[in-house]
Amino acid sequence: HSLLSLAERMPKAELHLHIEGSLEPELVFQLAERNQVKLAYADIDSLRAAYAFSNLQDFLDVYYAGMSVLLTEQDFFDLTWAYLTRVQQDNVVHVEIFFDPQAHLERGVGLDVQIGGIRRALEQGKRELGISFRLILSFLRHLSEDSALETLELAQPFAEQIDGFGLDSSERGHPPSKFARVFARCQQLGYKITVHAGEEGPPEYVWEALDLLKVDRIDHGNRALEDDALVRRLAADGLTLTVCPLSNLKLCVVDDLRQHPILRMLDLGLKATVNSDDPAYFGGYIGDNYRALIEHLPLTREQLYQLGRNAFEGAWLDEPSKQRHL
Ligand code: HPA
Ligand code: ZN
Repeated sequence: HSLLSLAERMPKAELHLHIEGSLEPELVFQLAERNQVKLAYADIDSLRAAYAFSNLQDFLDVYYAGMSVLLTEQDFFDLTWAYLTRVQQDNVVHVEIFFDPQAHLERGVGLDVQIGGIRRALEQGKRELGISFRLILSFLRHLSEDSALETLELAQPFAEQIDGFGLDSSERGHPPSKFARVFARCQQLGYKITVHAGEEGPPEYVWEALDLLKVDRIDHGNRALEDDALVRRLAADGLTLTVCPLSNLKLCVVDDLRQHPILRMLDLGLKATVNSDDPAYFGGYIGDNYRALIEHLPLTREQLYQLGRNAFEGAWLDEPSKQRHL
């Protein structure tokens, strides 16, 4: 299949990746032993057996349990380095990764430890693997806006090491409007903004992300397709959607990859991209996501290139760097 080999060779940018979601079961157990953390799972197989989700919250419960082994700067380095060396095999040349600081602060792990370890790996990846990067601090939407504001304050000493802000975790019942003040502050400070919207939440949440939070991208955005006016708005604004096919399948956002809306998004003029979200939990890295699409949808060569180009166009890179990749 020539499309498969084209997809493999194509230089890629990944724009939707939670670094804690790249924590493989093997590394969970290695770090649990190194840090003397007790896990609720006896071994790698029983942990893997817990990776059967019927919705977002099912997954988040396991995701937060898994990351409890991350305690030291070296842990955050090892995690990020494992991700970078893995995606280099998929010809990834640029990554924009999320991290969830509030989840680690809760365990007493400081921002210096988190950002220090992640950035040390990203810098080494840039030097040794030729992978450029952006780092996005993501607020947890199941927590209060005051907690997000506090986290933003805590992040001020690291302002130069953060490129943008995001919003993730349990979507239903936690609309973007809950975080209007904190994102207004992020925007005032000159940061890029991207929020998860329309994964499980209704089209109204995507409207709020656009109109209230003034986002630069939407993460997921699947349910925007339920609202024609919203689709026209996203297309007119040229907003990038960071779509995650295997994640959508594992979290039952779609029942079957053959029904995945990514080609419909392209037909509607939306700038959809292909991403892995939480590859250790959802059965694959970015290359696996491209492969799954090719195997289940009537993707053309032009659509494949379009998806790849959309990621560089939506990346938070300066124009000359983008042009080098396009
Ligand atoms: N959705 C919401 N929160 C998340 C996700 C996701 O796909 N992955 C990690 N945190
Ligand atoms: Zn996500």
